Amino acid sequence: MNAAQDQWWRTAVIYQIYPRSFADASGDGIGDLRGITQRLDDLAALGVDAIWLSPFYVSPQKDAGYDVADFTDVDPLFGTLDDFDAMVARAHDLGLRVIVDIVPNHSSDQHAWFQAALAAPEGSAERARYIFRDGRGEDGSEPPNNWHSVFGGPAWTRSTNADGSPGQWFLHLFDSTQPDFDWSNPEVLEEFDRVLRFWLDRGADGFRVDVAHGLIKADGLPDFAFDDDANSMGGTEGPQSPYFGLDGVHDIWRRWRSVVDEYDDRILAAEAWVLPLSKMAKWVRSDEMHQAFNFAYLETDWKAADLRDVIDESIEQFGAVGAPSTWVLSNHDVVRHASRLALTADNPQGHGIGPRSAGLPDTQLGLRRGRAASTLMLALPGSAYIYQGEELGLPEAIDIPDEARQDPTWFRTAGERYGRDGCRVPLPWTSQAPAFGFSPSGETWLPQPAQWAQLARDLQHGDPSSTLSLYEQALRLRREFGTATATLEWIDTVPDGVVAFRVGELSVYAVVDPGTSIPLPSGEVLLSSAPVTDTIPADTTVWLRG
Ligand code: NOJ
Repeated sequence: MNAAQDQWWRTAVIYQIYPRSFADASGDGIGDLRGITQRLDDLAALGVDAIWLSPFYVSPQKDAGYDVADFTDVDPLFGTLDDFDAMVARAHDLGLRVIVDIVPNHSSDQHAWFQAALAAPEGSAERARYIFRDGRGEDGSEPPNNWHSVFGGPAWTRSTNADGSPGQWFLHLFDSTQPDFDWSNPEVLEEFDRVLRFWLDRGADGFRVDVAHGLIKADGLPDFAFDDDANSMGGTEGPQSPYFGLDGVHDIWRRWRSVVDEYDDRILAAEAWVLPLSKMAKWVRSDEMHQAFNFAYLETDWKAADLRDVIDESIEQFGAVGAPSTWVLSNHDVVRHASRLALTADNPQGHGIGPRSAGLPDTQLGLRRGRAASTLMLALPGSAYIYQGEELGLPEAIDIPDEARQDPTWFRTAGERYGRDGCRVPLPWTSQAPAFGFSPSGETWLPQPAQWAQLARDLQHGDPSSTLSLYEQALRLRREFGTATATLEWIDTVPDGVVAFRVGELSVYAVVDPGTSIPLPSGEVLLSSAPVTDTIPADTTVWLRG
């Protein structure tokens, strides 16, 4: 195997599957592993190198599976371990690697360890796997500190003693059903080594590591001054948070790296919402993880100067530690970029949009910008993640009725924040089929917008003007021209509102700012996110040879 193949993750395009919304074989309205296996050929045809699956483990589904009750088994909703094995085997046959999610910051409150902790006395070994503390105030009725849950409300819930009296409080940075582990406890470290090996032995090619900036909390759990309008997952450049981005996490990632290095070619990808990028780059030092989602890029406005700055900074900061940048525009926690890029009001990550939100996007403009942004991203050197449905140009689903919403954010903020349901709606596969081909029964766990009939994969397949074809061509050309390993060189002869660069034999022009346009440069147009004549108009990206 040569060095490039060995380090497949440096250039890989990885497709995120959100299992509950990808494809439902059982007909219960929730996607499952068998559904994924049946659709893997479509992903191979799209031209991606790998898939990443959000959690399918045993879970009461209070946070769509990120509340894990058993880290080494499949929830019956999604199938069985045999279904997992069959899915991996088919993916590998098709040349697709398989990355699974791992959720080390917390478990479900239904995990055997947490149930044992609740049943055990204060100060017991069972409680020491989580973060239990006495409350403040004379009768302990106040939470131990002022921390907020990412989903809204306090980050502490009071437990009840066996005799029914109020007991200690436990920490949960997310929902009250997601108690945080205490990572200073060696038992927790050992348990996760076991979980890693379990999936590696079963053929997983790596892990996307949930909340990889969490886990370690500041000694003494000090109070913190919060900015409530900030990105819910941290990732602001303010004062050091007492629970996100602390240096102690790096010891854990070095330990995990040594576990995955016992196997060939396996990877760790960090979900670490930390800024600036010089700090995020610490997660991908050579003895830590392989990739870290470039959330600074995801959060950059559709403005040429900002895009150019973040691309420069990314290449410089990740390059300084010998890592590629891992570009990303959408995932299951953010407003889909085919809507986000046309929002006209601030919308911090995690808040989501719904019918009563300010600054709702123009759908056509959103799609146009979404296509231009994807065409720009897929030309950049390094690796990239695609979130299921973006290859169809899906917008955020805005008109989900209140009573259908399921994100804990919606409940914990009493509807003040819509949360993330709008980016999690089941995919449209077939225009003229129940549930647009998502489920044979026509059931869907979130309602699909009627307009998605027009965006179904079968209608886009073979249509050269479709978003699906745009992605297929981009992935093919990216491979053919080796852009992912090329050095990016800026083209400076363009006006301010344009992002232009060369990667190997290709020249890429993204005309970004409103009102800007440029004459079509000479060369063969290989790819264009929108029709061009002798001019490239705003919100358009073009790849040229020459
Ligand atoms: C990040 C995941 O992407 C998100 O969906 C989840 O709610 C939180 N971590 C908690 O696990």
